[in-house]
Amino acid sequence: MPKLSSIIDAQQFDHETLLRVLEIAKEMEEVKSENSLSGKIMTSLFYEPSTRTRLSFEAAMKRLGGEVISTENAKEFSSKAKGESLEDTIRVVSGYCDVIVLRYHKEGGAKRAQDYSSVPIINAGDGAGQHPTQALLDLYTIKKKFGDIRGLKIAMAGDLINGRTVRSLSYFLAKHFPDNEIFFISPSRVRMREDIKEYLDRYRMKWNEAENFDGLLSQLDIVYQTRVQKERFEDDQAVYEEVMAKSEELIIDRQKLEKMKEGAIIMHPLPRLFEIRYGVDKDPLAKYFEQARNGLYVRMALLKMVLADF
Ligand code: CP
Repeated sequence: MPKLSSIIDAQQFDHETLLRVLEIAKEMEEVKSENSLSGKIMTSLFYEPSTRTRLSFEAAMKRLGGEVISTENAKEFSSKAKGESLEDTIRVVSGYCDVIVLRYHKEGGAKRAQDYSSVPIINAGDGAGQHPTQALLDLYTIKKKFGDIRGLKIAMAGDLINGRTVRSLSYFLAKHFPDNEIFFISPSRVRMREDIKEYLDRYRMKWNEAENFDGLLSQLDIVYQTRVQKERFEDDQAVYEEVMAKSEELIIDRQKLEKMKEGAIIMHPLPRLFEIRYGVDKDPLAKYFEQARNGLYVRMALLKMVLADF
């Protein structure tokens, strides 16, 4: 198994490495903390807001005995505000630390950073591109619930054209777990992009597309709900308003919950806006807060695999 270095996208993972991430994450969930990264420094460099990704990576590093340096709003508080390029920032910051966790507002940001970094880069979300570490924690959550990731009907719902988490999750499922079926549920303006559908076809993974959940809820094992990404519609307010109006149909409320099959789960990468009603949270089907907690264990596993010698 090659050593895990930078984590840029979902497609880079071979099956052995993916299974190892899930295995080490399970160990991390059991031990909760250890000292394997003592003396190592992680930089979190976030050009877009984050609660879960930044804080779980920082907590993960500290739980492994490492140190963290960070700028939480790099657009405003790094030299980006003075006009410095991503490439120059990365050249400099990589001289201060052992790994950089980067969230960038434009697709391809992590790849650009990797080309100029002397240390591994971990993609913590690049615009509407990918969010591979989120998809890994999604897979960990699915595996914990179902054991085998096989024979499942998985709906991905919401603003799919801009959703980087559903893109990364689709790549992982197609390459490693094609024996499942995906249902893309979204308003027509924000359908899943063609590149993902082509990738699913290449791995002969079954997929379907619809604009609502009609007739589907009773057969789904997983409803993976997502929010409308307001920040990606800055230049098109009319489309944003249309998508918001159509998204009302997709809201998971008590009525929809009652139509779901026994043993099914609801996931969401969070943050949640209105697309899952608060009244759903206490139902045993609601797994999104557990999913967010799993992020800590998966990110501990990833930091160990990138930084520790084993
Ligand atoms: N799921 C996720 O990426 O959340 P944050 O934006 O809070 O990091």
